[in-house]
Amino acid sequence: MGIDSDRLSITIIGCGPGAFEYLTEAGRRAIRAAEVLVGSARLLDLHAAPGQETIVFGSDISGTLEQIERSLTRRAVAVLVSGDPGLCSLARPVLRRFGRETCRVIPGVSAVQAAFAAVGVDWLDAVILDAHHALPLTDTEALARREKIAVLGGHREALAWIVRLGGRLGNGYTVVVCEDLTMPGERIRIFEPGAPIDGPVASRTIVLFLRKELLS
Ligand SMILES: C[S@@+](CC[C@H](N)C(=O)[O-])C[C@H]1O[C@@H](n2cnc3c(N)ncnc32)[C@H](O)[C@@H]1O
Repeated sequence: MGIDSDRLSITIIGCGPGAFEYLTEAGRRAIRAAEVLVGSARLLDLHAAPGQETIVFGSDISGTLEQIERSLTRRAVAVLVSGDPGLCSLARPVLRRFGRETCRVIPGVSAVQAAFAAVGVDWLDAVILDAHHALPLTDTEALARREKIAVLGGHREALAWIVRLGGRLGNGYTVVVCEDLTMPGERIRIFEPGAPIDGPVASRTIVLFLRKELLS
């Protein structure tokens, strides 16, 4: 059976990098108006009202899409994503499955924006790499011509890849490791390229490679 888009409404809401106050007023209103909220356990804990129906989104994307479809036949659904929906989020599979005519997207503050804001550097011309989902295939020579590189990814494999990338990019860069931005445990540390990133690192970590002169 096809999807009847007249009856359907999905709002995809960017909830910002972490802290509650980084959710926009537009996002807050859309959450209040939704009958079913879909999101990670953390986002649902933070934003769902008592009694609001929720669907916890885990790693099973197709299972979550099926649940959204079942809910849609009855009610307005809001999908909560961290940061901005336009960057490595559930928004892409939701838009592909249900179509742009069915979905409204409310932007949010991305972790990338928060990271560049934390160091006071603009992000025009920045290259954004996603090591969160899979290690990126990169052309180091082309990357080494860029002044600003942001890499998403806080797990062990991503961090090992980031350290190796630093070694290949060389000394012209400062490495800024940003953990849990906007949250109570926020930590920002500076490393030399290729130096090990020591200690436990937050699963929410973004690493910036910035040409040294940008921070001088
Ligand atoms: C699935 S992606 C989601 C990105 C999100 N849509 C955005 O615009 O920020 C998750 C990655 O975002 C980054 N991230 C999300 N929140 C963060 C935070 N508060 N501090 C640092 N990095 C964060 C981490 O690199 C994490 O691996």
